[in-house]
Amino acid sequence: MFTKKTIKDIDISGKTVLLRADYNVPIKDGEVASDYRITKSLPTIQYLLEKNCKIVICSHLGRPKGETVSKYSLKPVAKELSKLVKKDVTFVSDCVGDAVKETTSSMKPGDIVLLENLRFHAEEESNDVDFAEDLAIDTHAEVFVQDGFGVVHRAHASTDAVTKHLPSVAGMLLSDEVDTITDAIESPDKPLMAIIGGAKIADKLQILKRFISTADYVVVGGAMANTFLKSQGIEVGESLYDKEELDTARDIIELAREENKKRGLIFYLPQDAVVSEDITSDTTLRIVDWDTHSVADIESYPATPKKTSYSVHAHEKILDIGPFSSAFIVGLMQSAKTVIWNGTVGVAEVPALHGPVGPFGHGSEAILHAMAGRYGTKPFSVIGGGDTAGFVESRDLVDMFNHVSTGGGASLDLMSGEKLPGVEALQDKEGEN
Ligand code: 3PG
Repeated sequence: MFTKKTIKDIDISGKTVLLRADYNVPIKDGEVASDYRITKSLPTIQYLLEKNCKIVICSHLGRPKGETVSKYSLKPVAKELSKLVKKDVTFVSDCVGDAVKETTSSMKPGDIVLLENLRFHAEEESNDVDFAEDLAIDTHAEVFVQDGFGVVHRAHASTDAVTKHLPSVAGMLLSDEVDTITDAIESPDKPLMAIIGGAKIADKLQILKRFISTADYVVVGGAMANTFLKSQGIEVGESLYDKEELDTARDIIELAREENKKRGLIFYLPQDAVVSEDITSDTTLRIVDWDTHSVADIESYPATPKKTSYSVHAHEKILDIGPFSSAFIVGLMQSAKTVIWNGTVGVAEVPALHGPVGPFGHGSEAILHAMAGRYGTKPFSVIGGGDTAGFVESRDLVDMFNHVSTGGGASLDLMSGEKLPGVEALQDKEGEN
């Protein structure tokens, strides 16, 4: 249960609200390329409009490192937000200072202002108390509302220090994200299946350990799986893998074996892969099935297949899970009641020369369709992590899932059981913090 106060727990009517959103969205040719995060911020904005608030929104975009960089301007977001909220949104070309003071002093109830990128000031990321005070004072804010779930894993001026200057509560997106993800992990309908992909074990170590001790099925994919395979003596050629993490991979496998003995955990590493010598949309592909060698057996019959036909060659890279692995994961999922997916299992962003699925996106595509209920059972589904959510969006399937998180690092930290500074800083439901 979300233990922090939300906009519904306080009297916010008619107040000037400083609303922190996460409008760190992709911009292409000066236009917003994906409006998912903006759309998800609308319920809070609508609620504040119903309460006749004056709404001053702040956000970051990209990592401009304290410099004013025009490609990271939030101006295109103001245009997109205005379209979605069907109201004028006034854009101010700074987030503190005279222009902000002037614009916000003449706001009327129901007005919306979007401030320029917070990260054009280095003080944002250094969690500077004076900068946070300027934000609060220059905007004439009476209440701070944190609704930028995607950024609450950062202790920045607009997520932490600002709460020292204003009564601070959560917006609806933030409370919904925290509630849904926490519930899915702590009290899921069982069996619980976790699919963890991504590049490095180090980035996902906590989440892996947490799921190995709580989930019923844990599936590992993506480049991270290569490190696990290599640690078991399976050839991975030139695939991305982490030499320093081989011992960690062995330890995790050992942990999973113990959980298997204790309570029947299924810990699944890919048994086959799509490989190629380069990552391009017109490359030559091969399926390598090191587990059963069935493809190699059939292709060489009646001769015995050479080992090279069922192992990854020195110059090849593993770029996706293979069809046997996909089928196993999809099959196993039919008995899962809750599925949490964080990290695509292949290089899903390379476009195909034909059709909607790139050459290395089939593994993730199979998981996506199974989670959406294509094969009959439809588990409660939670999708987190920037790449994974982006993949779902690119397939226009967001509505098929119970929860597609707007957070990348934030959803990973929450799933890993870590505290989120931007949530911790808000007022507790009972009493003041
Ligand atoms: C995100 O996209 O994950 C958030 O907006 C946070 O961005 P950051 O990783 O640059 O802090």
